[in-house]
Amino acid sequence: MIQVNDLYFSYTTKPFIEAMNFTVEKGEIFGFLGPSGAGKSTLQKILLGMLPGYRGSAIVNGTECRHRTNRFYENIGVDFEFSTMYEKLSARENLQFFSSLYEKSGRPIEELLEMVGLQNDADKRVADFSKGMKSRLNFIKALLHDPALLFLDEPTSGLDPANNRMMKDLILEEKKREKTILLTTHNMQDATELCDRVAFIANGKIYALDSPHNLIMSKGATRVTYTWMDHGEHTASCPIDRLSGDEVLQKLIAQNRLKSIHSSEPTLNDIFMEITGRTLL
Ligand SMILES: Nc1ncnc2c1ncn2[C@@H]1O[C@H](COP(=O)(O)OP(=O)(O)OP(=O)(O)O)[C@@H](O)[C@H]1O
Ligand SMILES: [Mg+2]
Repeated sequence: MIQVNDLYFSYTTKPFIEAMNFTVEKGEIFGFLGPSGAGKSTLQKILLGMLPGYRGSAIVNGTECRHRTNRFYENIGVDFEFSTMYEKLSARENLQFFSSLYEKSGRPIEELLEMVGLQNDADKRVADFSKGMKSRLNFIKALLHDPALLFLDEPTSGLDPANNRMMKDLILEEKKREKTILLTTHNMQDATELCDRVAFIANGKIYALDSPHNLIMSKGATRVTYTWMDHGEHTASCPIDRLSGDEVLQKLIAQNRLKSIHSSEPTLNDIFMEITGRTLL
């Protein structure tokens, strides 16, 4: 669905996005993961044809982005980082208006409102909506014309746990409907849970690209941490693939003196730091 080759872009004279290459397959949830200012939204905007002054190639659904026409947007739904609703109109009026901009007849508005639990608030002005309600409304706005490709910019950012869960379930539901989904986030838990593959982005570059599982497994082995009593409590740890060589641990096992033992995998955040030298926050 997406092919990016040797992509370069800059807002100023200084290069910003440099030598990016990746592809996104149909039906995949692909994540851009990186700290604030990394270039995630910039990259999404290039792929949406909003920043045509790039070098290299960015082909989305068969169209080179700089040559997009209005038709390009018939198959693309966008949930922008910031709310894009008319605040003085009701939720239903907003959806009716945006739906009228597409040639394609899309999904029924009532059905979408119900899907995100807004059916009883549909006639309220958007200005009176809570943050969680606004983000659910923005999400279904992206689905109005039933596009094959969804771009979601920070879909879970700033949501309370209940709204966060609901948003993630909605995204997974769209994946089941065989949509291709590109999302940006700096929340590694959400990325791990949602994405088939993630690209680590920092300073306008891709530092790594793989499934969250492979990224976690590729670096830093799982560690085993154990404690025992000997005139007070002691703690030690060892990589899981070197346990047989850990003499202290072997002795404690032989003498049944272990007080606790547990293993922990590195998180995607640890791996991000190891690879890019930056934290996600
Ligand atoms: N229109 C613009 N003109 C000049 N510089 C810009 C413009 N838009 C963004 N930038 C700069 O490009 C850099 C990357 O911005 P971008 O919005 O892509 O980051 P991001 O990864 O989406 O960050 P966040 O997680 O905060 O949303 C920032 O340094 C920003 O100031
Ligand atoms: Mg952004």
